[in-house]
Parts: sequence; C-alpha cells; structure tokens
Amino acid sequence: MTLHAADFIARKGKHPITMLTAYTCPVARGIEAAGVPVILVGDTVGMVEMGFESTRDVTLEHMEYHIGAVRRGARNTHIIGDLPYLTDTDPETALISAQRLIAAGASSIKLEGPKAEVIAHLVDNGIPVVGHTGLTPQTATSFKKVGNTDADAQRILDEAKLIEKAGAFMVVLEHIPYSLGGLISQSVGIPTIGIGAGPDCDGQVLVINDALGLGDYWPPFSKQYAHVSDTILKVARAFTAEVESLEFPNNIIQLTGSGNR
Ligand code: KIV
Repeated sequence: MTLHAADFIARKGKHPITMLTAYTCPVARGIEAAGVPVILVGDTVGMVEMGFESTRDVTLEHMEYHIGAVRRGARNTHIIGDLPYLTDTDPETALISAQRLIAAGASSIKLEGPKAEVIAHLVDNGIPVVGHTGLTPQTATSFKKVGNTDADAQRILDEAKLIEKAGAFMVVLEHIPYSLGGLISQSVGIPTIGIGAGPDCDGQVLVINDALGLGDYWPPFSKQYAHVSDTILKVARAFTAEVESLEFPNNIIQLTGSGNR
C-alpha cells in the first residue's frame, strides 16, 4: 500500500517513519520488500554513486534516470525525488522541474532551504513537497554540523516553521544539534525526518550506501549495517584468482553439468 502525504502527517508522534535513499532498481526492490514506507531518490546519488565531489553536479536528467529505475523496483512505495541544484530558483522553474520528476515516477519532491514561494506554488499545483533544512549540501561550504549558536539554531527553527507554513508535508533535518532536532519536532505539526538530528525526530533517514557500507567514507551520524565494499573486494579477488587458475568457468560447468545453458 502506497502511503501519501496525509498518512505521513497522521504518523507524527505515533509511528516513527523509516526512510532510506535508493538510486537503482534492485536496491529499491529490496527496500520495498522490507516494508520501508518511503524511499528518497536524493541528489546524494551524485556523490555516492556518480563520483562527483558535490551534489551540485547532479542534473534533472540524472534524477529522472534514477527515479525511473527506483520506481520500476518499488512500484508501491512513496518515492520522494530531490530537485537538483538551481532547478528550483523561482516558482515557475521549480514547477516545470518538479513535474518532470513526477512524470519520471516520483510521488513527491524535496527541495533544500526556506523557499516559501516555491513550496507554495508547487503545492498549489498539486505537487506534494518535502522541505529540507539544517545542513543543506547544495549551498553549504562544508559538511560540518550547523545550528551550534543560538542565532543559527533560531534561523533553522524559523526555516522549519516557514517550510511547514508554505505547505510542505514533511521536513528533513540534517546534521544539527540533537536538542534542536527535538525542539523543531515539537514546534511543527508535520513529521521531521532526521539525518544526524537526534532521536527526537519523527523519523530517520539513511543514505543507502552508508547503511550498506558501500563506499570509503561514511558520515559520523550514519550506521553501517553491512560492509558491501569488503564483499565487492573479496568477490573481485576470488573471480580473478579462479580465471587465472582456469578454475572458472570449469567449476560451474562441473557443478551444473551444463555447457552453454
Ligand atoms: O540527497 C539526499 O540523499 C538527502 C539526504 C541526505 C537526506 O537529501
């Protein structure tokens, strides 16, 4: 059953919301099979899958490609598509960009920062919107925690309230003090989804590559539930050894008793 904006709002304070990112069809298939109610096709794809230094290199075409793949793997899950850098600079541009992501398979879109006019315009045109405040990688100059001073914490709290008022149905809080994550969660009526924002958010999101241990750097607030990079190394080494020793493919031919299947 696909959950919609109102279902997520109804879960606030009652049922913690699990969100994982996904960028490919088989990963999305596994996440849907596990019953995760919402998948984010984030512009993190640029850094964790495409080798870019920044999410700013991600384009609408990249997002359409990945959203399509994720939708084919998770036909019944709410999918949030990230609006890439500079594709939401004004309400009309954002609407055209958002409509492309929805056409590619997204159920809603996410955008970074306190863009009240843009959010309101998208919502008025039937596009469900997820906000994102705290650390906003598209415009940040570093990946360090934000909201450490009273003034910056107040700015982030105000942004979360503005995002709610503009019509967003959910807000992602990234890399802020845990106490601020709790305060914002109490101060807004829409679910907060934390990534490095502490235990008092209404839900938690992890970048799937971080959760899988696929990559060579993981943020301190992430958790590795597996070590897929190690598995890739082991598989590639084992295959190389078997090809060089002429064991492969003879060993599978012996096992299956078949030649050219
Ligand atoms: O792009 C993304 O994956 C995100 C998460 C870090 C929340 O915005």
